[in-house]
Amino acid sequence: MKATIDGVQKDIRAVWFENGRVMMIDQRRLPSEIVIVGFEDHLDVAEAIRNMTTRGAPSIGATAAYAMCLAALDGCDLVKAAADIKSARPTAYDLFYAVDYMSARLSEGADPVEAADGYAQMMVDKCTAIGRNGGRLIEDGMKLMTHCNAGALATVDVGTALAPMRDAHSRGVDFFVYVSETRPRLQGMQLTAWELAQEGIDHRIIPDGASAYYMSQGVDMIITGADRIAANGDFANKIGTFDKAIVAKHFGIPFYVAAPASTFNLDMSDGSKIVIEQRSEDEVCMMNGQRIAPAESHALNPAFDVTPAELVTGFITEKGILRPDEIHLMRE
Ligand code: MRU
Repeated sequence: MKATIDGVQKDIRAVWFENGRVMMIDQRRLPSEIVIVGFEDHLDVAEAIRNMTTRGAPSIGATAAYAMCLAALDGCDLVKAAADIKSARPTAYDLFYAVDYMSARLSEGADPVEAADGYAQMMVDKCTAIGRNGGRLIEDGMKLMTHCNAGALATVDVGTALAPMRDAHSRGVDFFVYVSETRPRLQGMQLTAWELAQEGIDHRIIPDGASAYYMSQGVDMIITGADRIAANGDFANKIGTFDKAIVAKHFGIPFYVAAPASTFNLDMSDGSKIVIEQRSEDEVCMMNGQRIAPAESHALNPAFDVTPAELVTGFITEKGILRPDEIHLMRE
């Protein structure tokens, strides 16, 4: 992805391995500053996933792959390391997929760094293919909408929901994106808007509650990412995705979900079995370190919701655009 660091535009990934350390952009500091942090211990990398220094399903997967790499280089018990890393967050299937991938590669005797670098590159390649496959849906003059951040920050590079937008923009297609802010952690406003600004893609941030209003005024397509997709096509994504899918159905707006094979949990029959992460009420009640809710009130903070497959027009994948009844084709 493009990022301007110290006045110079550079190409940078969300997570990578360098000199024995797992390096990542601290996504909690964007957009005001680009801070790179590095970790030498796999448990610190697991904590960076838990506290959302890095986030987004495929980036969580690649970060977990690098954590397994550190555990292997340090001669740790890999069964225990795998369990510790998997406990970081419950919903994104990529975390479990990546740790199992690395466990299998390491037990075959693969070089830890080569295996983890290979995993990260595989995500970038899949996202590039998602961009090619989805980019053809975007035409001149279209108004799109997205939620949360399913861009390069969330996927090592390129993105899932943002990949078709990057592809269309690179071919000179002229379109516009509504970016819903994504309360409470503001991944839409702080991360997606930042990525679109770096790319020069025309967009406006909207409050989450304004999405029905703008859909009533004319939105041509919604594209989101996913954290876990069950075999019947039900999928978990950032809280508020379900609302958008219902409203899109009301207005007859196509609703696409962009995701690579590592997000498809085809051994899970339907979305009712997806574990939804419950995060701290402070994320809802506090802003910039200040409590803004009444001292007596408590808050609920589910990080994800599950959208039923019947609301999905298609899944944009590296294998093409699939209807919900075709996603068995994602089995590897
Ligand atoms: O809590 P987050 O920021 O990790 O949630 C991220 C999302 O919900 C993304 O939409 C999803 O992981 C897809 S990322 C390509």
